[in-house]
Amino acid sequence: MSLIQPTLEDIISLCKRRGFIFQSADIYGGLNGIYDFGHYGVLIKNNLRTAWIQSLRENNTPIVLLEGSLLGPQTVWEASGHVANFHDPMIDCMECKKRFRADDPDIQKGCPSCGKNNWTEVRQFNMMFSTHVGATVESGSIAYLRPETAQAIFINFKNVLSSHRVKIPFGIAQIGKAFRNEITPKQFLFRMREFEQMEMEWFCKPDTSQHYFALWSERRRIFYTKIGINSKKIRLRPHEKTELSHYSSQTSDVEYEFPFGWKELEGIAHRGNFDLSQHSKHSGKDLAVFDEETQSSYIPHVIETSVGADRLFLTVLFDAYHVDEIQGDRRISLKLHPSVAPIKAAFLPLVKKFNEQMFAIYQSIAAVGISVEFDDSGSIGKRYRRQDEIGTPVCFTYDYDSANDNTVTVRNRDTLQQERISIEKIKTYLLDILSQ
Ligand code: GAP
Repeated sequence: MSLIQPTLEDIISLCKRRGFIFQSADIYGGLNGIYDFGHYGVLIKNNLRTAWIQSLRENNTPIVLLEGSLLGPQTVWEASGHVANFHDPMIDCMECKKRFRADDPDIQKGCPSCGKNNWTEVRQFNMMFSTHVGATVESGSIAYLRPETAQAIFINFKNVLSSHRVKIPFGIAQIGKAFRNEITPKQFLFRMREFEQMEMEWFCKPDTSQHYFALWSERRRIFYTKIGINSKKIRLRPHEKTELSHYSSQTSDVEYEFPFGWKELEGIAHRGNFDLSQHSKHSGKDLAVFDEETQSSYIPHVIETSVGADRLFLTVLFDAYHVDEIQGDRRISLKLHPSVAPIKAAFLPLVKKFNEQMFAIYQSIAAVGISVEFDDSGSIGKRYRRQDEIGTPVCFTYDYDSANDNTVTVRNRDTLQQERISIEKIKTYLLDILSQ
């Protein structure tokens, strides 16, 4: 059991200390709601991306990949309904001029900044970032940074269908940036203005859509336990009718129990044929498919699964953060699943005179393509702590006995137990851990 439940401040401090994440444009005062990822942050995110794609394509599920553009012409966002509907209610404090979302529970007792209760009327604020493409500024050149990755999938539906050997039902999955001018970016990676989404649109016949909605809801819930998240902190919550987005007839959120309450981690939405119909109508291109069985055309229905890669990153850190005490010292460790850990093993010579031998072992494992680290700086205790904080599952140490018996010690991050294993067995030992 961890001695404490981590706070957001604990997570932010660890991310900064270990170089997972930096405030964007930090030396210029930062840009609110926008972050840069450092080396370990990138490695963790890559692992999450890989795990996500693997889980979708498991058991030969027919899913192809796409990487759409970030900018889209205004026509796309008119058709998708985002120009008309992608609003958040906004109010300003008349006293201190700070701006908030009108539905933010934090403002119920007064302005969180100055404490007064003197508000403007609620206004609707469109969250898309707009720009102009080309040298002339006219209405035809307006483009938007995408607020969701999904639309690139819908507008490429026919391209994918005609160029790949896919048939309904099948999915198109995409990982990429999305941008929302959130009124109040909050809680670090939870609500950002520039973030990454991992979205999959599953195209199916209308009469099978309920079956697939249930199937994907269950598959997505299971994904989180497979990457090591505590299943007691994950739940599925169906949306009330009043919560539904403009495109959805049914949505369930996968929620995680953050220190600030149960919150959405992923949305699973029944988008019906809303998007394909809208793009058919607005582009004039027929996006229906022909059903050989019934000899008739129909517009497929869509089940969407959508999770923020950054929000998942934050979730994984909250879930893995662990504090215990070793011989009176407070130890912070990240109990990351080996598949998510940025470094799978560290190679530590006990003292500098063993550097050469340990470095050779480290190189032989790195050559296999496993993400490993060699560290010879500082006391062995300090090096263990550093690896614990970045979530490295095991550390190998070359010591005075190693040269004689051809073994190293291996120390487990979670149990702290140490055992000796033969140097030849290191690779198999690691591959075993990684296959769990
Ligand atoms: N295509 C559907 C869609 O975009 P959404 O519920 O608005 O639905 C899906 O977003 C997921 O994207 C959320 O569950 C969350 O994980 C992530 N997300 C949304 N807004 C975010 C933000 N401002 N910062 C970080 N992640 C966000």
